[in-house]
Amino acid sequence: MSASRGFDFRFMQELKQKNEIVDVISGYVALDKKGNTHWACCPFHHERTPSFAVNQAEQFYHCFGCGVSGDVVKFVQEIESTDFMGAVRILAARAKMQVPESNFDTEKAVELKKKRDEMAAIMLDSARFYLSNLYGGDKRAEAHLQYIHNRKMSPTTVKKFGLGASLDFFSLPDYLSGKGYSRQNLIDSGALSESKSGKLVDSQAGRLIFPIINAFDEVVAFGGRLLEKSDFAKYKNTKETLLFNKSKTLYNINLLKKLKRKQPIKDVIIVEGYMDTVSLYQAGFENVVASMGTSLTKEQARLVKRYSDNILISYDGDFAGQKADLRGLEILKDEKLNVRVVPMPEGLDPDDVAKQGATAYQKCLDAAMPLIDYKIHAVERKYDLSRSEEKRKFVAEALRVVSEAESESVKEELLKKLRDQTGITYHALERDLQNVKKEPSEAELSEPQLQEQTRISETASGTDKRVKAVRFILAAKLFAAPYAKDYDVRELSLSDSSHKEIAAFILEREKADERMRASELFEILDVDDSELGAIFDLNFEDKLTGETAERFFRDSVKTLQKEALERELAELGEEFKAETDVEKRKALQRKIMDCVRCVNQLKK
Ligand code: UTP
Ligand code: MN
Repeated sequence: MSASRGFDFRFMQELKQKNEIVDVISGYVALDKKGNTHWACCPFHHERTPSFAVNQAEQFYHCFGCGVSGDVVKFVQEIESTDFMGAVRILAARAKMQVPESNFDTEKAVELKKKRDEMAAIMLDSARFYLSNLYGGDKRAEAHLQYIHNRKMSPTTVKKFGLGASLDFFSLPDYLSGKGYSRQNLIDSGALSESKSGKLVDSQAGRLIFPIINAFDEVVAFGGRLLEKSDFAKYKNTKETLLFNKSKTLYNINLLKKLKRKQPIKDVIIVEGYMDTVSLYQAGFENVVASMGTSLTKEQARLVKRYSDNILISYDGDFAGQKADLRGLEILKDEKLNVRVVPMPEGLDPDDVAKQGATAYQKCLDAAMPLIDYKIHAVERKYDLSRSEEKRKFVAEALRVVSEAESESVKEELLKKLRDQTGITYHALERDLQNVKKEPSEAELSEPQLQEQTRISETASGTDKRVKAVRFILAAKLFAAPYAKDYDVRELSLSDSSHKEIAAFILEREKADERMRASELFEILDVDDSELGAIFDLNFEDKLTGETAERFFRDSVKTLQKEALERELAELGEEFKAETDVEKRKALQRKIMDCVRCVNQLKK
């Protein structure tokens, strides 16, 4: 437990002691002390009533509004838009401490950091090179300039997004070769690839380049567009690298961060593509990011949540029927974001509409609607309501959507709309709604549907309950709740890597019998900060003490035991089905019965 991202642990400890968190934060925002907690309006999201809390005893902060948490280093990192090293430097200067140069105690962390830095330098150099190609006067760049012109991107926009041009396979490798980068890092950064003959070539040869820049202003990848139609993929993105993980990145997050510095962001528009982003931005809708074509992920949802709680989904007109996309939207809702969907004219994407002018796009925004309304809207598009047969199908499908509504009042509202649309009486619709089966029975499901169902249940309440239980147990152990003392974390069967890391930490600490401050965990543990934040939340406001907490702890343990047993039961069931040997079948049957008995016992 001595490694702290490459720094000597003692150095980090001293750095934090000399940079008392309340002191540091109050240099940025006014803190108001109530009880043991200092409160402020969160500097990382827009709000009027303070929900940003600083825990002085534990030396960490947490915002109950947007969910960010961290220690003093993380705070400086975020507020100064810098990386870990940058924050360490700022804090060291503040405390008049020397940053150790050679005092790294894990060689591997240092190596990795060096590699990462070199890869970032390669990407930045490449971006600059592409940019200089564009206006460098080379005849071959004319095609790119013409393309930019045809798509109505202004020079200011081109500059703002740092667009560039790749002219061929070899000029980028030639340019980079003079800069002393290692061959391996050139390849690993994704900027260059190795050809069959072993030569290094530009991975984006010939394309128009959209640099993908993270919130810390590092170029982490490129999206390259072909200038003409061909059999090759229209866009080619840099492969996944140490710097670039597509599912954790949003295109244009860098400019969104800058925008937030200037003004509170009311809502964030999420589009699919690079061109959608660039066009909307140019049309004056600067609060836009792109998911880059894929269905939204939990990480992307959490990333965007730092900027606003209100999301406008502005996908291509034809996305509605696509299950993957709808699932992405459910993920946003799981992260407690308010989601509305922007309807698009048939066959157009946001870029097409923005080209017709800002007013045209604003009209679409004004028509944004809650997800459930949008689903009905999408169903409606499929049918011609003037034909009675199609109308019937529409009603049946629409009612299935209505049945998913969260509350009775929403159901009522939707039914009224349906009534007005179809001329069917409210009464009849309501009766039909009662006959809509919530979920089709398993026997009726086809194989792909079945898979769909199990996937959905993974994200729904089952997992929720499990995750909550795990978090509570880990928190109780971390903050040494007396009732958790005898619980062995090895009993937890964990799948989440953050949870695993925390559990391992708890074990290690128990062996050493020392108490750690929460703030130090941010340092030591290489885990998802928002997951850590969710666990730390539980240490606030006495959630971990008292009878209720104790009961919740016991229930959590039970929940997990039950779940483990049920999983075992399912596995045994499979084995039993496949087994042909009579004796073995009998043995399995006994095991299954034992399992069932245990489950029943737990249920009591
Ligand atoms: P679209 O196919 O909707 O393209 O892909 P687009 O954004 O409208 O692009 P233009 O207007 O034809 O130039 C949406 C996004 O999906 C990713 C890209 O991020 C793209 O912007 N994509 C698409 C790829 O990564 N590869 C592809 O081959 C296509
Ligand atoms: Mn497009």
